[in-house]
Amino acid sequence: GRPQKHTVLRGAGVRWACSSRDATACAYGTATQLVGHRVHAILNSLSADFISAAFASLGESCFFEEIGKRSIWTVARGVASCATVSYTPVALDVDMTADPVWMQRTLRLLSRRAQTRVATSLPFASYDLETQSDMAFRLLQSGRNMGKVVLRVGTAQAVLGGGGGVRGSHVVVGGTNGLGLLTGRWLAQQGAQSVVLASRSGALAKDASAEWARIRQSGAFALVASCDSSQAADTRRLVARVQGESLRGVWHTAGVLADSLLAGQTSQALARVFAPKVHGAMSLHASLATSPLSACALFSSVASMLGGAGQANYSAANACLDALAACRRRHAQPGVSVQWGAWAEIGMASRGAASERMEAMEAAAGFGRIGLAQGLGALLKAVQPCAPPVVGMIPLDWKRYLGGGAPVPPFLSRFTPAAPAAASARVAGAATATTSLAAPAVSLEMVLEMARRTAGSNVDADAPLMEAGVDSLGAVELRNALQRAVGDGVVLPSTLIFDHPTARQLALFVQPAVEEEPTAQAVVAAQVGESAARIQGTSMRLPGGATSAAAAWRAFASSVDAVGQVPLERWDLAAAVATVKEPVASRIRHGAFIDGAALFDNGAFGVSPAEAAAMDPQQRLLLEHAYVALHGGGLDRAALSNSLTGVFVGIASTDYKEILAASPLAGSVYAATGWSLSIASGRISYLLGLQGPCMSFDTACSAALTATHTGLRALQANEASCSLVAGVNLMLLPGTGASFSTAGMTSA
Ligand SMILES: NC(=O)c1ccc[n+]([C@@H]2O[C@H](COP(=O)([O-])OP(=O)(O)OC[C@H]3O[C@@H](n4cnc5c(N)ncnc54)[C@H](OP(=O)(O)O)[C@@H]3O)[C@@H](O)[C@H]2O)c1
Repeated sequence: GRPQKHTVLRGAGVRWACSSRDATACAYGTATQLVGHRVHAILNSLSADFISAAFASLGESCFFEEIGKRSIWTVARGVASCATVSYTPVALDVDMTADPVWMQRTLRLLSRRAQTRVATSLPFASYDLETQSDMAFRLLQSGRNMGKVVLRVGTAQAVLGGGGGVRGSHVVVGGTNGLGLLTGRWLAQQGAQSVVLASRSGALAKDASAEWARIRQSGAFALVASCDSSQAADTRRLVARVQGESLRGVWHTAGVLADSLLAGQTSQALARVFAPKVHGAMSLHASLATSPLSACALFSSVASMLGGAGQANYSAANACLDALAACRRRHAQPGVSVQWGAWAEIGMASRGAASERMEAMEAAAGFGRIGLAQGLGALLKAVQPCAPPVVGMIPLDWKRYLGGGAPVPPFLSRFTPAAPAAASARVAGAATATTSLAAPAVSLEMVLEMARRTAGSNVDADAPLMEAGVDSLGAVELRNALQRAVGDGVVLPSTLIFDHPTARQLALFVQPAVEEEPTAQAVVAAQVGESAARIQGTSMRLPGGATSAAAAWRAFASSVDAVGQVPLERWDLAAAVATVKEPVASRIRHGAFIDGAALFDNGAFGVSPAEAAAMDPQQRLLLEHAYVALHGGGLDRAALSNSLTGVFVGIASTDYKEILAASPLAGSVYAATGWSLSIASGRISYLLGLQGPCMSFDTACSAALTATHTGLRALQANEASCSLVAGVNLMLLPGTGASFSTAGMTSA
């Protein structure tokens, strides 16, 4: 299958995987991995040719359990092929009829194991039969599915809204105030039998009496309960209490704020925000594993979608809710995370002395506030089964939001109006500015408008901005707005608003001083300046088994020892050791090696088996990982073809050249390209139709670093629209390690 499928398998602990496209390649891959050994048991093979390939790998008195149904062998054919192998087709539907008691016991056992997570299922994608079956088939057609594609029967019926109204019992965690209380009242008025409003205090907020009276008038049984959602025991107790009463919906609205600029964020502030939201959601999720819910709504925030000044902790916590909702949906459980903008009349955004000023600032930036009826209407839509797992609800004045000069997230960048051509100017007096670079002019009027947006009201040009309502968060926002206005060529100090406290002083500071024609040198400097680059996607395979940056960091942090014995398939260790003296002999016994270096899904890249056999495994790894990294960055073949994407590869080992020279493949038409270092990068560009620069670097140990440096420079000089940077090193022969060791260049 595709390289990303291999990645999933490796994540599940599978050490070796080989092609499932071509029976010959599968047989070859299996034989390579077995290195002369035989397989003891086979559980399912693909049909037709794959069955004979599988038989060929079995030893004597071994087992072959065939789960497939189409184009499989009969038992007689299995016996005829190899009498000592027990070949048994397994058909669950037949077994179910023949021995229903055994089947029931087995399914119960499996279900218990799944619940306690002793057994985990393959990944699967699930769709509603009635509303999403076309999506399911499209996924199957594309061949991108991993594990099973499940169609859910009968879940598309909306339990909320529609003719029947709300049924059953509902729990609102965080339901004693703000949005939770409103949701509780709404559920009760829609026909819920019972509504449980839970929070730490287990007491309604001071001004909740009117809402409470409405709930009671609705006829629903209503209860206020005490539950700290961050405590797993509390949530388990709460769910157990309601479960017997036909629990149909869970609404997780518990949340607190602990805003602070990034430099002031502490682990305590992070824990404070994560506790009710993330730990609460996770323990609810665990407690609800066996509840047949109709709705599970998680109250997330616009901070997760767009970020929020001073809200790094809150943004991250809400992003966790979004991920959980997506995860529940993938596992065929109801779940939606609603990224709310600020609500107008109730809830945390409407409270506090700064609320009105915040509202004015938001309005200046294009954000409106959510009205009660508007919000409840959106909530009703969000919990419909066909709605996406993560929904954003933000009233926006698009023109103001996109055209106001505030940073626009990349997913909306296509809608931003084209920026006016930047006027050439210099920034006066900026000690930290790169004064040789051109910067657009920023007038006093522009500074005043930016300050008005930040403060939420008009600002006097000569009044201190801090007194006009710009607080420390606002100071950072205003400095960032000015930074965007003057462009990347000038770095404004982070203390800008404190050093130049009025709008006039700011405008003077950033206004052009001496008009000079930029010199040719300055233009070049601007072109190759230190503009920031963004990492879009990564893919890796490291000794020790790490296949992601997170796994690599975990391995470093926990001092995982990635050094081990030379794998059998690399070289004959005894022969290698016999050719050298101590201490070199001891040193070359061990090294850091990756698993499965020989595996390659040639079919996925349109490479013939003959060419794949002559290709340096380093080239194969580069192809697979380049594809996964680009794909992970949201770039597919169609998007990449003919693009100015550059390929920069650090590669130094030429072991495969020696291996090829000594093998029958030396005479292959593919031999020259097979070992060539320049082809290592060229092949990626060629296969994906990339038109940017394409280079391989052999600067020994610094090869990958050189590739990274050059890739970054190509971006900064506009020679490439995107840089694919890779480093690969496979030790396939002992020679290089032995000579480095002899020269005392290795650490042990
Ligand atoms: N209001 C908005 O404009 C807005 C915008 C975007 C997102 N949101 C999200 O919507 C949710 C509700 O916001 P809100 O404005 O209604 O907040 P709120 O008025 O402050 O109410 C929060 C509720 O959560 C409860 N709570 C806090 N910690 C808890 C815990 N550990 N366990 C159980 N309950 C806990 C509080 O009661 P106790 O203190 O008694 O526990 C209270 O009932 C929050 O998750 C918030 O992030 C709100």
